[in-house]
Amino acid sequence: MLEPADRVVMVSGAARGIGRATVERLLAAGFRVSAGVREARGLAPTERLMVQRYDAESLASAEAWVSGTVARFGAVDALVNAAGINTRFAVTDADETALDQLWAVNVKGPLRLSRLVLPHLTACGVGRIVNVASLSGKRVANANAGYAISKFAVVALTQALRRAGWDDGVRATALCPGFVETDMTVSAQFPRAEMSKPGDLAAMVEMLLRLPNTAVVAELLVNCRLEMVG
Ligand SMILES: NC(=O)c1ccc[n+]([C@@H]2O[C@H](COP(=O)([O-])OP(=O)(O)OC[C@H]3O[C@@H](n4cnc5c(N)ncnc54)[C@H](OP(=O)(O)O)[C@@H]3O)[C@@H](O)[C@H]2O)c1
Repeated sequence: MLEPADRVVMVSGAARGIGRATVERLLAAGFRVSAGVREARGLAPTERLMVQRYDAESLASAEAWVSGTVARFGAVDALVNAAGINTRFAVTDADETALDQLWAVNVKGPLRLSRLVLPHLTACGVGRIVNVASLSGKRVANANAGYAISKFAVVALTQALRRAGWDDGVRATALCPGFVETDMTVSAQFPRAEMSKPGDLAAMVEMLLRLPNTAVVAELLVNCRLEMVG
């Protein structure tokens, strides 16, 4: 297993939900963390935590966050793409505004960050990318086609990153939860007590970051209810 000490992890969507739980888990484990946020929401910098503005819809903010992280810590060893939205878009919708926003935040955001950090991940020889996709990236279970389309694309992006980085020790995983008890699911028709918890996803992220180059999880599917996927 890889030791956390001194490894630098960038986490997007870091102020809330799965991203926030991941930041807290990784700090407790001894990683150095660069948190990308639109609003800090009480996330305060420390010696091992930097907090910088990141908006997935702005290429300039992605560039500034990556260069700010390298300036502060001198390296990037891992990227966790947790920022995401689940705006509604049905296949019958003529207005494509919601689809465009899903594409920008859920797909182009992780793609751009991955592209920008890849040289740094390559340099360390044990680089890691964890893309928080979804079971909606494995099957279409409801009318929100736009979200599923974006998450299938994140799974494809993850496979593309595995190809691009493999020879240089970069390993990429698509983490695919079902319902997780965060703000994103407050109006879901499913009991909150039965949803997966953000802290459980954070524990999985830590495990993925610690596995060696020779034990790679391509996709991690996480169920909170009985369903057959894949
Ligand atoms: N909750 C679930 O059931 C579930 C299941 C499967 C997959 N996921 C995925 O898990 C990831 C995290 O979701 P969550 O459940 O933690 O949801 P959440 O609590 O709603 O958090 C979403 C995060 O994404 C950030 N974000 C939204 N738009 C952004 C933008 N344009 N630029 C940068 N950051 C942006 C938010 O930042 P602000 O605080 O600034 O809004 C927030 O930190 C998402 O990719 C989601 O699709 C969630």
